[in-house]
Amino acid sequence: MGFEQAWLSYEPREVSPEWYGIHGIYADCGGRITEHAAAELKAAIAGITGKEPVLYADLPETEREACGEMAGCILFEKEQGLKEGGYHLFERKGALIIGASDDRGFLYGAFEVIRQLQLGNSYQGIEIRKEPVMPLRMLNHWDNMDGSIERGYSGNSFFFDKDEILVNERTVTYARLLASVGINGTVINNVNVKDAATWLITDKYFDKLRQMSEIFGDYGIKLFLSLNYAAPIELGELDSADPLSEEVRKWWEKRMKLVFERIPNLGGFLIKADSEGRPGPFTYGRTHADGANMLARAAEPYGGLIIWRCFVYNCRQDWRDYKTDRARSGYDNFIGLDGTFHDNVILQIKNGPMDFQVREPVHPLFGALKATNQMLEVQIAQEYTGQQRHVCYLIPMFKEVLGFRTYAAETDDTVEDIVAGKTFKQTKCGMAAVANTGNDENWTGHDLAAANLYGFGRLAFEPSATAKELAEEWIERTFGKDQEVLEVLLFILMNSWRAYEMYNAPLGIGWMVNPNYHYGPNVDGYEYDRWGTYHRADYQGIGVDRSRQGTGYAGLYREPNASMYDSPTSCPDELLLFFHHMPYTHKLQSGKTVIQHIYDTHFEGVELVDEMVERFESLEGKLPEKSCRRMLERFLHQKEHSREWRDQINTYFYRKSGIPDEKGRKIY
Ligand code: GCU
Repeated sequence: MGFEQAWLSYEPREVSPEWYGIHGIYADCGGRITEHAAAELKAAIAGITGKEPVLYADLPETEREACGEMAGCILFEKEQGLKEGGYHLFERKGALIIGASDDRGFLYGAFEVIRQLQLGNSYQGIEIRKEPVMPLRMLNHWDNMDGSIERGYSGNSFFFDKDEILVNERTVTYARLLASVGINGTVINNVNVKDAATWLITDKYFDKLRQMSEIFGDYGIKLFLSLNYAAPIELGELDSADPLSEEVRKWWEKRMKLVFERIPNLGGFLIKADSEGRPGPFTYGRTHADGANMLARAAEPYGGLIIWRCFVYNCRQDWRDYKTDRARSGYDNFIGLDGTFHDNVILQIKNGPMDFQVREPVHPLFGALKATNQMLEVQIAQEYTGQQRHVCYLIPMFKEVLGFRTYAAETDDTVEDIVAGKTFKQTKCGMAAVANTGNDENWTGHDLAAANLYGFGRLAFEPSATAKELAEEWIERTFGKDQEVLEVLLFILMNSWRAYEMYNAPLGIGWMVNPNYHYGPNVDGYEYDRWGTYHRADYQGIGVDRSRQGTGYAGLYREPNASMYDSPTSCPDELLLFFHHMPYTHKLQSGKTVIQHIYDTHFEGVELVDEMVERFESLEGKLPEKSCRRMLERFLHQKEHSREWRDQINTYFYRKSGIPDEKGRKIY
């Protein structure tokens, strides 16, 4: 097929000696998912050790001990007391046991064994017990039915082409990759549902969707679809989509019945309503709760979820208006509805209040909503973080978001606690990522971008894993165990977000990109635009006043966060210009002035990229040739392009402020 297996390549590699003695796999205690897990395990062991174990699928448990040689076998055994998807690996007399109480537990347990194997670890005396921390661990694809991908940077869709659905070998590899990192749900179509995609809930597409969802189902993954809120109208059946109309309610009831019957492994729907031109309940003077609850009631008999996005704002602002603040809009639109959503509705909230910038504060709805199911949405598609041409490992950013204390409770009040369901005792919650895959041979364009897909899934399952651990794992599983490769790639990944932030928009202000396609520097690109994304730079200073004197946004957080952000002396440097309009001469907590910080970070960011590229070049000959070539090409572009960023930004602020660089470096 000509595409790669990413971190699931089972090429021979050196592993701890006892793996070569694995001769049997007993996995008769589960259903289809367990069968697939056992088959995967067999393939991995056969490929990596060169010795194919036997699958004893039918042997009853009582006869196992009797058959003698348990040493050297892998046994799937029922173990009570583990949460859904949880597993327990341990050794018993030379046998490796995977204990779980359900099919998904066996699946994730088998993939844990494969991970240990690929990392070359011994299983002697192994003792690993894990349960997924986030109930929902989802990908959101923004794939269009014509095959294009909104904000896609790695080729075209592998789900759709020319308004048809694709189901092929790649669908299976995709499902395996997701399952291997614990992802259990995926939305295959763009949140902006238009044209052919509106018809996904009709007879036209059911057969193919069912096929696809069965493949996903074999790997413990539920299929989800993005829904067009105005479907009753756009499918030509009704004149209205008013959520309180009896006729509309009945239409959805019938439709949901049909869809869930025809696609049994459907998990539910993702909805972008009343946002960026998409239809929604506002048209009828109704609230988001009216809209979401109407759909939720119709989907409830089938266990369907309605995931409703909070990315709602007025994208028709006037730059002269200093009162309206886009950052407030998610909060303002939803806070009054807390507690009014049906039990199978989940609000999906982006990590920050704007839109996936390289640095944003945490969305203030986290910790404010107390009686509503909620999910965190992050973006591994690098829309604003280098579009998979620059390397930008985002897991350190996600770790910061998850670790943010909201003060919604005395303890267990971080974003992680909230979306894991701990803070408010919820079970319908979790984490979703806007996907970064396409039909490129290597799935993600930049080979290093696969670390974001890998890291996201692993993080949602096990948020206590560190960004460094996940990077190390991914590197070793993908490129094998080579100390030099590990050190260099780890250095690159772990410095990449920092580097990108350094040569990007300064101090949390964001948005200095070319409009529409969002790539490359353009300081005033959005400044006088209608999207509400301003930096407000003049000759004296820069930043948006979101304090009590300004838009009041800082006050949306709970104390002590609100006061911390409200004052420029306590606001963290990296977010200063997001919260405050400051003179260029203002001294940061770091001791530097704002303007000198801008110059220094832009020069240093480029130097860091140079170091990354130089180190990468030293790996030539140690990496698979094709993959090395692909990365090198991108690194050379990043080197060039980071200079473009540096010079455009430094020049802009030098010209605007008239303040020279203390270090006298070249600014144009
Ligand atoms: C961003 C992105 C859009 C996307 C939107 C969303 O604005 O640029 O392409 O549709 O987010 O999250 O809905």
